[in-house]
Amino acid sequence: MKVLEKKPLLGVLGGTREPIPPIWLMRQAGRYLPEYRAIRAKAESFLDLCFDPLRAAEVTLQPIRRFGFDAAILFSDILVVPHALGQRVSFEEGGGPKLDALKDPLVLKTLRRDIDHAKLEPVYETIARVKQELPVAVALLGFCGAPWTLATYMIAGHGTADQHPARLFAYRFPNEFGAFIETLVKASASYLIRQFAAGVDAIQIFDTWAGNLPADEFRKWCVEPSARIVAAVRKEIPGAKIIGFPRGAGTGLGSYLEAIPVDAVGLDWTMELAFARDHIQTRRPVQGNLDPVALLVGGEALDRSIDAIVENFSGAPFIFNLGHGVLPETPIAHVERLVARVRGVPARM
Ligand code: CP3
Repeated sequence: MKVLEKKPLLGVLGGTREPIPPIWLMRQAGRYLPEYRAIRAKAESFLDLCFDPLRAAEVTLQPIRRFGFDAAILFSDILVVPHALGQRVSFEEGGGPKLDALKDPLVLKTLRRDIDHAKLEPVYETIARVKQELPVAVALLGFCGAPWTLATYMIAGHGTADQHPARLFAYRFPNEFGAFIETLVKASASYLIRQFAAGVDAIQIFDTWAGNLPADEFRKWCVEPSARIVAAVRKEIPGAKIIGFPRGAGTGLGSYLEAIPVDAVGLDWTMELAFARDHIQTRRPVQGNLDPVALLVGGEALDRSIDAIVENFSGAPFIFNLGHGVLPETPIAHVERLVARVRGVPARM
């Protein structure tokens, strides 16, 4: 007899269409929530908050309490992996991440070969704490950054509009860059295995900057490394549920899905709905893809965008989400309106 899945999100990852699509939002815990800002103000720094299991667990649960989402995502950051490889990482108020840039191949030797799990113990403890408090119907998601996206920050030392420093490095020093990516593959797989051991139900691999590479480089630096991570994780945790999010991959999604047996794929907001329904959702459950700016604006623009997505994807397995993270200026009322509309509940306003 088939065991009934109590968590709708895991049902979809198992290939089942849910009559009401499960919903969660990337960056659902964050600055748009006053209760997040209150806890954040008490922490020394953003990384201190990520490594404080009590507070990080509380922040993870905040959006679940407020909106009743179908998944909680571990409160942490993708840049804890560079930190656990020995790179200096900090977050400046309002200025984004700062790392010691890895400008030439020699500097790569300053990194550890293996991830230092001792530095990540607080993350595993956060997972265990959240797990205890989550309602049974809510899935707990872990995550990591994909190697290419991590490399763009690690090499430049900060966020970039076009990932120029990492692209330059990869063309100029392909062998060293390949070895570096392999270090990140091993570190990420090991990190994800520990997240599963601590209690996550599924994980998402964020490849935020997958959309800025030529096809050959996309295959080499995005597709193949993520495929190796998925294989390494499933070797230890057979059947591990995994969502891939190669943001901006566009037509590259075909080769991504061919090479990587992810259970679902996240779509960014530029993906045409009918195309995605006919060519992507026929192959794998999809997750997405509301424009975060439409959520910020609200009103008619929001309602129209939600309806188009729900109507388009509801015929097959589908998870409602944004096409990227919640913007800090987003009004809470708009998020309430979104959840109500996706679930077909008449909105209060
Ligand atoms: O709610 C959640 O989604 C879980 C927590 C989470 C954060 N970052 C918290 C965060 C997750 C899953 C991430 C992933 C992440 N971090 C990505 C991939 C997804 C994406 O957004 O593209 C990337 C590229 C990062 C790196 C990062 N972290 C940047 C570039 C920044 C600065 C930009 C910004 O929004 O401030 C961060 C900081 C960060 N990560 C904040 C939060 C809540 C804001 C920092 C603060 O509160 O002071």
